[in-house]
Amino acid sequence: MKDIKCKNYNIHINNWLQFTSFVQDINASHIFILADENTEKYCLLHLLENLNGEAFVIRIPSGEHNKTINTCQQVWSKLMQNGADRHSLLINLGGGVIGDLGGFCAATYMRGIRFIQVPTTLLSQVDASVGGKLGVDLLGFKNMVGIIQDPAAVFIFTEFLNTLPQNQIRSGFAELLKHGLIADKSAWDTLSHKANISGLDYENLVYESVKIKKNVTEQDPYENGLRKILNFGHTIGHAVESYWMDSSTPLLHGEAIAIGMVSEAFLSYRVGKISEGELFDIRNALIRIYGHHPKYVRPATDLIEIMKGDKKNIKGSIRFALLESVGKACYDVQVDKNAIEESFVFYKEKI
Ligand SMILES: NC(=O)c1ccc[n+]([C@@H]2O[C@H](COP(=O)([O-])OP(=O)(O)OC[C@H]3O[C@@H](n4cnc5c(N)ncnc54)[C@H](O)[C@@H]3O)[C@@H](O)[C@H]2O)c1
Ligand SMILES: [Zn+2]
Repeated sequence: MKDIKCKNYNIHINNWLQFTSFVQDINASHIFILADENTEKYCLLHLLENLNGEAFVIRIPSGEHNKTINTCQQVWSKLMQNGADRHSLLINLGGGVIGDLGGFCAATYMRGIRFIQVPTTLLSQVDASVGGKLGVDLLGFKNMVGIIQDPAAVFIFTEFLNTLPQNQIRSGFAELLKHGLIADKSAWDTLSHKANISGLDYENLVYESVKIKKNVTEQDPYENGLRKILNFGHTIGHAVESYWMDSSTPLLHGEAIAIGMVSEAFLSYRVGKISEGELFDIRNALIRIYGHHPKYVRPATDLIEIMKGDKKNIKGSIRFALLESVGKACYDVQVDKNAIEESFVFYKEKI
């Protein structure tokens, strides 16, 4: 059991007693639980066992393609049809899709009802549930509509990871590695040497990783500066993820971010920030965990075009969060097109 205190709410890890009493103390007029078919199957029962009192379950289909305003309308309608008033509580039980969408629905229903995040994927436990970003996709573009608002609390239960498919664990693990690279060298050193990422002591690993995200987002909740360091690996990673999204071989988010982190570590080396030795260590560790997939870093011109549309750019020039050293990051670094192309060549090189 571990707790992390934030400015406006707390994050609790593996504390069912605290969950039960926290919900009781809220004294909500109605309790709603938002789940998808997987969290309904694998996580809901345990949650219900730890709730004193009745709850109404709203189920939406899983998957990023359902993270839309249409699904929000279904959730808002279910809330309304089942008597939700301003004193109701919504518990979001699921991965980042449920957390982002459910949080957005709660924050906007009747101008805002309280909500609790219960993240059930590794990615949502260390990343999506912390920092208050909520929202949905629009016209196929990610997170185009949303707000930043804190939940009443976050309750993380690492036992939920037991039913999570291995590829989803690996995907979420990329965010733990990223947190190490940008803010905690010793975490990176430990995590990057793990021979097998299943069966680890996730309570501790999640705790350390959440602390990093919490520290960064509390200093800069609206991403005016420091929060941008969390985008390390994501400028190139997002472009790769989007380009292959509708293909027959899409990548999971973390797999794409692993490619992005190798390429952006190269950029960090290219602009004189990290050493060649550090660059090779990062590449070797990420490729050992995620495999080597040269086919995904092409076509370079299309990927660069996608990057030009990145929300983080300023006046059309592509800006990167890069590594200052291992365990320290910087942001808003302008990098030219040639260097980006070189970073793809570096990723593709045979080891
Ligand atoms: N708000 C933020 O700051 C933030 C940060 C990072 C990512 N995100 C968002 O998070 C989303 C991705 O989140 P994700 O990776 O958790 O994906 P996800 O929510 O789609 O979950 C992945 C899959 O795992 C299933 N699942 C969830 N918990 C399970 C469990 N315990 N056992 C078995 N299956 C389970 C889900 O049903 C789904 O099929 C994206 O929409 C992304 O934009 C938000
Ligand atoms: Zn990410």
